[in-house]
Amino acid sequence: MDISINSLTLTQPDDWHLHLRDGDILRSVLRGSVGQFGRAIVMPNLTPPVVKVEQAAAYRKRILQALNDTAGETQEFEPLMTLYLTDDTPPDEIYKAAESGIIYGVKLYPAGATTNSAAGVTDLLGRCLSTLEAMQKVGMPLLMHGEVTDPKIDIFDREAVFIDRVMIPLRDALPELKVVFEHLTTRQGAEYVRDAAGPIAATITPHHLLYNRNALFNGGIRPHMYCLPVLKREIHRQALLEAATGGSGRFFLGTDSAPHLRGMKESACGCAGCYTAPYAMALYATAFESVGKLDQLEAFASLNGPRFYGLPVNKRKITLERASYTIPDALSVGDDELVPLAAGETLPWRFADAAYT
Ligand code: DOR
Ligand code: ZN
Repeated sequence: MDISINSLTLTQPDDWHLHLRDGDILRSVLRGSVGQFGRAIVMPNLTPPVVKVEQAAAYRKRILQALNDTAGETQEFEPLMTLYLTDDTPPDEIYKAAESGIIYGVKLYPAGATTNSAAGVTDLLGRCLSTLEAMQKVGMPLLMHGEVTDPKIDIFDREAVFIDRVMIPLRDALPELKVVFEHLTTRQGAEYVRDAAGPIAATITPHHLLYNRNALFNGGIRPHMYCLPVLKREIHRQALLEAATGGSGRFFLGTDSAPHLRGMKESACGCAGCYTAPYAMALYATAFESVGKLDQLEAFASLNGPRFYGLPVNKRKITLERASYTIPDALSVGDDELVPLAAGETLPWRFADAAYT
């Protein structure tokens, strides 16, 4: 990594948690990731969800086609596909996934936890044990949306309660299962991942590093700051910053970029999800610099993820420039718009090749 006063050059990062959607939105959002990121773990919560290897293969083809149509062949980008775990996913589907060479993880959405999670899992160990055993056997990572859905549990406590009710019993039962605690949002989560035995890691988003829950209510309700797991108190943001910048190989970059058209966010019942991908590296650099840890950015963004997933690091480099840059208020998608995270805010860093500059 090469840090100077005016620029920052690092191994090209990967995005270990990305929602690319499908159809027209897919075509529009791809260019926000391509160039910046070499690869991305692509979330399977489409409608209908991607529950079978054949569906993932077809979705991968649509992504590659969209890439070819929009970014051109010169832009290399590799989608790493995932399957959506249900109560009925058979162990055979895991063996198929392992043989396919295109599936890199299986995603757990507790049923009802978030966008398109209705087909998710109702009782992880009760319903999915043999499938999880197959995953452990073949080394297929379980990518976990770590929130309980019990309506009696306060929404701000759902991640911490998930650790006790789901994560610990799961990892006691299957100690060799590779687990990614996705989009970590709490001090309890950061401490658990830091201290636990066995193959566990976590992704951290730019929004959970840069904002606390006050951002949801800053002068009025701010639907574009609403995501799940929801933003937490400042002590949690501080713990996440410490985890991301502290040198542990267990924490790595995952934007959880989750685009919803403007009207779906600015609504009486707005969708959860922040559109973070297009300015992600500038956002992460801003967060790391805020605690004087820019030197840790490359490990977090480009090295720790490949090591956990058993993949080589990217050969290409990317450069961020120190240049004050104001994120646009909105990006057009056909006749509609997406509002990116931090719209209207000025950052001290800019990814020179960003598609939307
Ligand atoms: O905020 C979120 N949006 N959290 C999720 O878990 C899903 C995502 C989406 O797909 O929109
Ligand atoms: Zn997500």
